[in-house]
Amino acid sequence: EGTESAALAELAKRRGFFFGSSESYGGVGGFYTYGPQGAALKSNVEEAWRDRFAVQEGNLEIEAPTIMPEPVFEASGHLDGFDDMLVECAECGESHRADHLIEDNSALEDAETLSPEEAAEKIADLGLVCPNCGADLAGQSVEEFNLMFETNIGPGSKTPGYLRPETAQGIFVEFPRIKEYARNRLPFGVTQIGRAYRNEISPRKNIVRTREFTQAELEQFVDPERDEPDLSSVEDVEVRLYPATEQQKDDGDYIDITVGEAVEEDIVANGWIGYYLGIAQEWYEHIGVDMERFRFRQHLPGERAHYAADCWDAESEVDGDWIEIAGFAYRGDYDLTKHGEHADDDFTVFQQYDEPKTVERAVVDPDMATLGPEFGAQAADVAEALEALAQRDPDAFDADEVTLDIDGEDVTVDTDVANFAVETQTEAGEHITPHVVEPSFGVDRTVYTLLAHAYETDEVDGEARTFLSLSPTIAPTNVGVFPLVSNVDELVDLADDVAEELRTAGFAVVYDDSGSIGRRYRRQDEVGTPFCVTIDRDGLEGSGANTVTIRERDSGRQVRVPVSDLVETFVGLRAG
Ligand code: GAP
Repeated sequence: EGTESAALAELAKRRGFFFGSSESYGGVGGFYTYGPQGAALKSNVEEAWRDRFAVQEGNLEIEAPTIMPEPVFEASGHLDGFDDMLVECAECGESHRADHLIEDNSALEDAETLSPEEAAEKIADLGLVCPNCGADLAGQSVEEFNLMFETNIGPGSKTPGYLRPETAQGIFVEFPRIKEYARNRLPFGVTQIGRAYRNEISPRKNIVRTREFTQAELEQFVDPERDEPDLSSVEDVEVRLYPATEQQKDDGDYIDITVGEAVEEDIVANGWIGYYLGIAQEWYEHIGVDMERFRFRQHLPGERAHYAADCWDAESEVDGDWIEIAGFAYRGDYDLTKHGEHADDDFTVFQQYDEPKTVERAVVDPDMATLGPEFGAQAADVAEALEALAQRDPDAFDADEVTLDIDGEDVTVDTDVANFAVETQTEAGEHITPHVVEPSFGVDRTVYTLLAHAYETDEVDGEARTFLSLSPTIAPTNVGVFPLVSNVDELVDLADDVAEELRTAGFAVVYDDSGSIGRRYRRQDEVGTPFCVTIDRDGLEGSGANTVTIRERDSGRQVRVPVSDLVETFVGLRAG
């Protein structure tokens, strides 16, 4: 691991941000526990996300179960397609992700686009060895490994279920009920913050790649023909884009561009993707991601998930590596169509026309006799398919013959025998399958990025200091409150009152009266507490009565303020 990650992991464990879970029992790879500081930081990130992507956007937040039955994942494609490439060392039995091994040991950056056979060849060509025991991996077969955790639902019944690999499926599956709640009016967005599970072959970089993690996802349902986002609030936001075309060049370059221009020049698939890149850019900046170490990278064609027509990742840089912290995918009508086919429910929305339309519809004579005996047992299916085609595309009957798909077999029908009449009908609207635009955020990776980008060292009074320059909007502790000494009752009483008043006003306060004041500052610096309030003798009497000093973490600057101004001051400082 790089120096930044290693120092961060050490601090995270020592100061209660996060640590490997179940360590008393030897630990298990890919599972982490957030300590008090980490849990508070993560919850602040979730709250900031909820505020921006659910509340301010007027979206609907839901909370679905984390275990779902097998048919859901048959429909979604995860049972078949949610695999990573596994290579197992014949010597020590350790499992590795083949594409990671290749990427770590060659200039190749998109090894996940290789087939298992190509990956095995590449491993042999590069002479790769097992990172655990050094044994040669040439000749080992590379296999697809499904990342879902399987479980059984209920005793005895052995009904298979899976821990959801993305929170998104909980939203798609409930679409028939949520659309009613949204009164069948597109566009609308549904959000969910919750746990997702993936049996990662090789978890790594502590909370960056784990087997249980938290996603904050938004599924924006739109009518692709009618709905456009209002770009006015984001069109001037500047984003750093790394399109696939640039990545494929030797000298691939970033494009620094406004959201408005990126949409206009079709660099992003559509306005919706542009809209969310703009909002995300501002949100990440607001919570304290270093925007010099941030970019949006477009997926290469072979890299996209089974459902995505276009996808951009938000990436942050830590230790010279780029980490995917969020994905912005255009999922089209893939998910709702699939669930519509597999489930017994209606995943469409009835879109009313502005004015009722008079349409001509071809209606096939249901009298199967007109189809002639040559269709035999297929006659009923052929008649039904003709009827459907007539509804969908009456012009198809202008040709001499039409070709129908009957149980996967092409059946050609002479249009003369498809004895149909044209009827005039009035239609108020039509059923459409909404398209989905999906901003999907990894909360743990956001937390990791914030910590890594906030990690700083300097010198105070000739001593090395480590501090986290976390933004006051998300810092786990808002204020440290210290009586200068603990053996003067008046100081302790005033400090107690100050702590109490700040807590009542909703601030997370740490009260600390042990050790030198310098030590107490260092402790808060290390967990990123942006402000400390110190109560000293000058604040007890004379012209300074009822005043305290506020010390700012990064600069060490101190100002004296009346106790009565504290709450208002911190409300302003926290808002940024
Ligand atoms: N619904 C879309 C979806 O799940 P994804 O790119 O597979 O897309 C979205 O995941 C985000 O979830 C990623 O950008 C990443 O931040 C986070 N994520 C994915 N796998 C993770 C893992 N094993 N550990 C931690 N975070 C993960």
